[in-house]
Amino acid sequence: MLIKPGDVQKVGNLFIDSVHEEEIRLINELYEALTKEDKSKADELMDELLVDLEDHFTTEEELMREFEFFAYPMHKAEHDQMRQRFKEVYDAWKKDRNCAAVVSFLKDEFVPWIKSHVARWDSTTAQHLGD
Ligand SMILES: [Fe+2]
Ligand SMILES: [Fe+2]
Repeated sequence: MLIKPGDVQKVGNLFIDSVHEEEIRLINELYEALTKEDKSKADELMDELLVDLEDHFTTEEELMREFEFFAYPMHKAEHDQMRQRFKEVYDAWKKDRNCAAVVSFLKDEFVPWIKSHVARWDSTTAQHLGD
């Protein structure tokens, strides 16, 4: 298991928290497939993650616009950086199916990013929205 329950803080908005829980489940499943070198399973999960990440970010961005969250541009900019970075990793995966490369992206980039992004941006956003 790459991300344990509790590694990513709860933000106090049930909708956003459930989006995060679902994504963590997907990341752990992908990590497991990659470490087993199960490339066909990993490929399915990479496709799922591409869609899931976009849904996750779009959901938060729509909520922020609806509630006129003051720091929308900064929060969205962090999403855009990860959208771009994940797309690079995704495209590289489609070319060379390198499990180790995706594992190191998840470990060294994605997990630290999601922890700090949720703590800094999603939690502030959730406070502004209430639940
Ligand atoms: Fe989030
Ligand atoms: Fe976010």
